[in-house]
Amino acid sequence: MRVLSGIQPSGTLHIGNYFAMMKPMIQFQREHTLFCFVVNYHALTTVTNADSLRGDTLAACLDFLALGLDPDKSIFWVQGDVPEVCELTWILNNQTPVGLLERAHSYKDKLAKGFQPHNGLFSYPVLMAADILLYQADAVPVGKDQKQHLEMTRDIAIKFNFAYGDTFVVPEPWIDEHTAVVPGIDGQKMSKSYGNTLEIFSEEGELKKKVMRIVTDSTPLEEPKDPDKCNVFALVSLFLGDEEKNELADRYRAGGLGYGEVKKMLFERMWEYFAPYRQKRAELAADLGQVRRIMAMGADKARAIAGQTLELVRSRVGLNY
Ligand code: ADP
Ligand code: TRP
Repeated sequence: MRVLSGIQPSGTLHIGNYFAMMKPMIQFQREHTLFCFVVNYHALTTVTNADSLRGDTLAACLDFLALGLDPDKSIFWVQGDVPEVCELTWILNNQTPVGLLERAHSYKDKLAKGFQPHNGLFSYPVLMAADILLYQADAVPVGKDQKQHLEMTRDIAIKFNFAYGDTFVVPEPWIDEHTAVVPGIDGQKMSKSYGNTLEIFSEEGELKKKVMRIVTDSTPLEEPKDPDKCNVFALVSLFLGDEEKNELADRYRAGGLGYGEVKKMLFERMWEYFAPYRQKRAELAADLGQVRRIMAMGADKARAIAGQTLELVRSRVGLNY
């Protein structure tokens, strides 16, 4: 099975990204053909500072490699190093109804947040469809916010296959219900663009401060509390096994447990969980030349596969004459 997913270098990666997408991807590489990439073309829809884009792209590569993505077992690259995806995007644009794009939640959210709508933002889902279809992916691990984009990819693939004959695999989303929406420190969905993240490779003091800022209600310490309505509980649960999670939930319901204590537990668990990866990341960061070589090798592998699909598509639509 081909498993594929991408992540935007539009800021620093956080534990929502990790648990919904990065961790499952790293686990999938053991049994499946893994395609994983850093989507810098997509980031251009919102990032206008070239130095930030360069820095965050390299940082996302380091993060993935440090967390266990093995470039020998999988295909790992930077989207912009395989420009074939732009050609496929153009071809797919012609199978994409404007009404479909107008219904995109992410586009409507961006408008609501005051972004000036430009064509890149509007056609973002077509580029994402091209990303997926170019590699004939079967399954796409994502968080719940990407579900609609996956449905659009499926619609575009089905429409193309109907118009030109079977060409693309129609992909399935892979969403783990336990990590589908990780809350941020303000209780909204954690997102790089909301400034509410707990970063995977945060500095210690910074992480402590952010954990202490997590929004809770004002139920007094001695009163019983509902774990299912608590952001701190949702976050610490990501680092607990089932038994520990149930024990903690019982302590919430019994009363006498303060949010401060759970926040301290969250900080300690998270800090400990990522400790070995921090070490690995520091080693990688000391040799960026090697990281760039790894990414170039990944791009070569991706390009070989992209070229095959594109050749087929070009002949299906009549671009070969
Ligand atoms: P962000 O919203 O932080 O910019 P991306 O859009 O780059 O994140 O998302 C990368 C991957 O991480 C996607 O699969 C997305 O669904 C997932 N993801 C991002 N934030 C969360 C979250 N808070 N909970 C679950 N999954 C998330
Ligand atoms: N739109 C995705 C996000 O914001 C990133 C992305 C781009 C992606 N291309 C993809 C995800 C292909 C999965 C497959 O998270």
